[in-house]
Amino acid sequence: MKKQLIAGFAVAALTVVTLTSCSGNTGRSDAGASGSTATIPKGSTIGVSLPAKTSQNWVLAKAAFEDSLAKAGFKADVQYAAATNTVPDQQNQISGMITKGDKALIIAAQDGAQLGTQVKQAKAAGIPVIAWDRNITGTKNVDYYVAFNNYKVGQLQGTALLDGLKAKGSGPYNIELFAGASTDANAPVFFNGAMSVLQPKIDDGTLKVVSGQTSFSAVSTDGWLAQNAQTRMSNLLQKNYGSTKLDGVLSPNDTLARAIIQSVKSAGKPGIIVTGQDSETASIPLIMSGTQYSTIYKNTAEEAQAAVDLVTTLSEGKTPKTVIDKKNNYNGVITVPAVALTPVLVTKDNAAEAYKDNTTLEPLTK
Ligand code: BGC
Repeated sequence: MKKQLIAGFAVAALTVVTLTSCSGNTGRSDAGASGSTATIPKGSTIGVSLPAKTSQNWVLAKAAFEDSLAKAGFKADVQYAAATNTVPDQQNQISGMITKGDKALIIAAQDGAQLGTQVKQAKAAGIPVIAWDRNITGTKNVDYYVAFNNYKVGQLQGTALLDGLKAKGSGPYNIELFAGASTDANAPVFFNGAMSVLQPKIDDGTLKVVSGQTSFSAVSTDGWLAQNAQTRMSNLLQKNYGSTKLDGVLSPNDTLARAIIQSVKSAGKPGIIVTGQDSETASIPLIMSGTQYSTIYKNTAEEAQAAVDLVTTLSEGKTPKTVIDKKNNYNGVITVPAVALTPVLVTKDNAAEAYKDNTTLEPLTK
């Protein structure tokens, strides 16, 4: 069953695939340990706990939630985790939301493995928990997961890297790999998706990772911080690329892509193929000039709307339609019933089309 979800500016290719779950685990939190019944009356307050602002999508998320919750008849309690002491800060915010009596929680985790106590507390209080964009791991107390298909994001990034390299000339190609923060459950999923495309090409010699660093733990970027990616790229260049040509870099998002591009530019090695994700305002001109080869478009307003729609469904006492997808949504204990949105790959070639209904990005693509 396919359902078109149109939120704010719509992109035709962005669809929500909704399948009726077969796990029996898609109901309200009254199915959980506490046995309490979740009620989310119209007009009640919904807690939205966001991580540190490591990329533009999180910045955009606040207004997106405030807007769609207001339109759906709820009050919004949106909070960001602080830049320092981020994990305890988010833990305290979530506990505070529960104590205050917020009726549902939408959580984008700073560290997906560190919220077990808080979601248990929510479950005991009969408050449904929706993991948003990032899964919450190591617990059965997560009711739903709303996100773009993260594995697909990785596959698109891997494919873009290969396509960009092929367009430059014939191989073999020298590349380096970057992944996001190990504390973010998305990061290994992005990486595994990308490697599902790249590994066979590494094995057949088309691609060569000159540093030899190919495991997630070797290539992850602490905190998703640009400075960490820039430092690692500079070290890689210094150690491995004296007279060796670098052809491409797998970057998991735009923030890190710009840091990587800065590093290769400083080393006097521009003109490489670099991937990204998020369609950040600062990266669109780089895409259009060919400095960054690709990005991924994940419409934050649409993603927020999908979570708010789920809250609305629960408040009406209905069972939301979800998909069970172990590869994307297994949290180490359960496969969290999910609403999966479809990401779009963007390069210079389709940017104008992809962003045509987005009034924020559209002028940049002209
Ligand atoms: C999000 C990406 C974002 C990254 C860094 C991930 O969990 O899915 O869109 O670039 O976090 O903030």
